[in-house]
Amino acid sequence: MNDSILVTGGAGFLGSHLCQRLVHQGRDVLCVDNFYTGRRANIAPLLERRSFELIRHDVCFPLYLEVGQIYNMACPASPVHYQFDPVQTTKTSVHGAINMLGLAKRVKARILQASTSEVYGDPEVHPQPESYWGWVNPIGIRSCYDEGKRCAETLFFDYWRQHQLQIKVARIFNTYGPRMRADDGRVVSNFIVQALRGEPITIYGDGSQTRSFCYVDDLLDGLELLMASAPEFVGPVNLGNPVEFSMLELAELVLRLCGSRSKLSFHPLPGDDPKQRQPDIALASRSLGWQPKVSLADGLKETVAYFRSTLDHDLARS
Ligand SMILES: NC(=O)c1ccc[n+]([C@@H]2O[C@H](COP(=O)([O-])OP(=O)(O)OC[C@H]3O[C@@H](n4cnc5c(N)ncnc54)[C@H](O)[C@@H]3O)[C@@H](O)[C@H]2O)c1
Repeated sequence: MNDSILVTGGAGFLGSHLCQRLVHQGRDVLCVDNFYTGRRANIAPLLERRSFELIRHDVCFPLYLEVGQIYNMACPASPVHYQFDPVQTTKTSVHGAINMLGLAKRVKARILQASTSEVYGDPEVHPQPESYWGWVNPIGIRSCYDEGKRCAETLFFDYWRQHQLQIKVARIFNTYGPRMRADDGRVVSNFIVQALRGEPITIYGDGSQTRSFCYVDDLLDGLELLMASAPEFVGPVNLGNPVEFSMLELAELVLRLCGSRSKLSFHPLPGDDPKQRQPDIALASRSLGWQPKVSLADGLKETVAYFRSTLDHDLARS
C-alpha cells in the first residue's frame, strides 16, 4: 500500500500545522490547496523538504494520485470567507467530498473528513453529543457552510455503507492558534489583532454568549488518533475543548495577555449566530483516549506571540 498522505487545504491554518507535523514524523505529504484562504507562507518552510509536495488544485475537480491516507481539510472555515462566495463554499464541501471519496475508493485509501460543530446549528442541547442531529437553518447566510458540511458527512457515511470505504469523521469545534489569519473575522484572531493595534474590541450582543476554544496542537493530536483508530471506529466524533468562556471573559484575557488598553465596543448579533456551543467529548475520550491539554491562557500566549510578530512584520513592510 502507498503510505503517502494527502492533506487537502494543506496551506490553511489547520492543514499547514498538520502537514508540518506529518513531515516531521518522516511521512511523505502531498498538500493540495487552491489558496482561497491558505497562504504559501504557512508551508514555506516545508517546500524544500523532499518528503513534501505542493499541488495547486481546486478539490471541486477530480484528482488522480496514489496515496494511503487522505485528510480532507479543504474548505474556508471563517464566516467572513465562507460567506464571501457561498456557492463556492457549498461546492467545495460537496464536490470536494465526492472527489476525495472517489479518489479514496480508487486507491483504497483511508479518508478523514474535517467536519464541524456547525452541523449542530444553533443547538437546543448543551453540551452537544454526536447523537444530537442539530438545529440548522437550511436557507440562512451560514447554511452554505453548515449544510455543505452536513451533506459531506452524508456522503462519507454512504460511501462507507455502500462501498465499505475506510472513513473517519471528526466534528471540529472552535480551534485557534498561530497562522490564523488576521482578517478572518474569527473571534480569537479579531480580539488579539484589535488588542495589539489598540483598537476597540468588537463584542456582538452583550458578550454573554459562550464558546469553547481548542488549541491547534490538541486538535491535531485528536485528528491523528482518529486516523489511526480501529477500522470499525468511523465517528462522527467531537473534537474540541469543553471549557466554556463568554466573549467578555475571552476579551479580558486577551487584553491582559496583550497588555492592551483597548475599550470594548458592542454591536448587534449577526444572523444565525449560535448563543452557546460546547462539545461533549466523552466519545473521543473513551474511544481515542483523547483529552485537550492546553489551557486557554497558554494557547493564547502562543497565538498572541504569533500575531505580534506578523503584525510587526506587516508594519515594517508598509
Ligand atoms: N479552525 C476551526 O476552528 C475549524 C472548526 C471546524 C471545522 N474546521 C474545518 O477544518 C478545515 C480547515 O479549517 P481552517 O481553520 O484551517 O481553515 P482555513 O481557511 O485556514 O483553511 C482551509 C484551506 O482550504 C483551502 N481551500 C478552500 N477551498 C478549496 C478548494 N476548493 N480546493 C482546494 N483548497 C481549498 C484554503 O485555501 C485553505 O488553505 C476546514 O474544512 C474547516 O471547515 C475548522
